[in-house]
Amino acid sequence: MSKRKPLIAGNWKLNKNIVETRALASEIVAGLDPDASNLVDAMIIPTFTSLGSAQEIIGDKTVKLGAQDISQYESGAYTGEINAEMLREIGVEWVLVGHSERREIFKEDDLVIKAKLEQALSSGLKVVLCCGESLETREAGKTDEWVAGQINSALEEIESISNLQGDYSSNMAIAYEPIWAIGTGKTCESTEANRVIKLIRETVAKKLGDTQAEQIRILYGGSVKPTTIEEQMAQSDIDGALVGGASLKSQDFLKIILGACPAKV
Ligand code: PGA
Repeated sequence: MSKRKPLIAGNWKLNKNIVETRALASEIVAGLDPDASNLVDAMIIPTFTSLGSAQEIIGDKTVKLGAQDISQYESGAYTGEINAEMLREIGVEWVLVGHSERREIFKEDDLVIKAKLEQALSSGLKVVLCCGESLETREAGKTDEWVAGQINSALEEIESISNLQGDYSSNMAIAYEPIWAIGTGKTCESTEANRVIKLIRETVAKKLGDTQAEQIRILYGGSVKPTTIEEQMAQSDIDGALVGGASLKSQDFLKIILGACPAKV
C-alpha cells in the first residue's frame, strides 16, 4: 500500500450535459463522507461547459474540480481554445494533459503536451500528466522505453517554470494508462501496472530528484472498477486511479473512492 494520499479522479470525457452534471455531482457530494477528504482526494473532470455548474455543486472543495484539456497558448487568435486563466476563473484546480485520446484522436504530439503542461503549471493549475503504451508497443516489448520517453519529454524543461519553486509533486500527478486497457474492460494486472509505475517514479527521480519522486502521486487508469480498486491500491506504488466509464455512475465512483481509503470511513 502506497504511503501517499490517494487521488481518485473521474474523467467524464464527452458525457453529461449541465442538468446531468448537476445530478451526478450532487449524488457524489451527498454520498461522500465529509471525513473521507482527510484520507483520499476525490476529483471530477466534466466537460468545459459543465465546469461552472459542477463548481456550484461541489463548492467547498470536498470534491476537487478538474478540466479535461487546456490550450497550449496563453491568449490570442486561437479559435476554440480555453486558457488556464479562464479555467481558474471558474474554480478549476486541476487539468488533464496528455490523455491518450488527445494524443491519438486529436494528434497531440509530445511538443504540444509539453507546451500544455507548461501553460497549466506556470498559471497555477495542477496537472494530471497521462502516459501509456498501445497494444502494439506492448507486444513489441517496448512499453518501458515508450512510457519513460513520454515522461522525459513532458518534463524536459520543467525547471524553467519558476513559480513552482521546485515543488513539482504538489502541483502534478502522473497517470499511467495503457491504451489497450482504456474503455475495454480489460484491466492491466495490478502487479504489472505497479511495475511500470515504479519505472515512471525512477524516471521522475532522475529528472526531479528522489524526494520529489517519492512524493509525486502516480495513478493507474484503464477500466478501473469497484471490484479492482482494492487490489490496485494494495500495490506499493499505485497512488490512486483515473477512472473513465465507472466515474459516470455515482454508486460505482463512490465505491472506488471508498475502496481507495487507507482506513475505510
Ligand atoms: P476507462 O477510462 O476507466 O473508461 O477505461 C479511463 C481513462 O480514459 O481515463
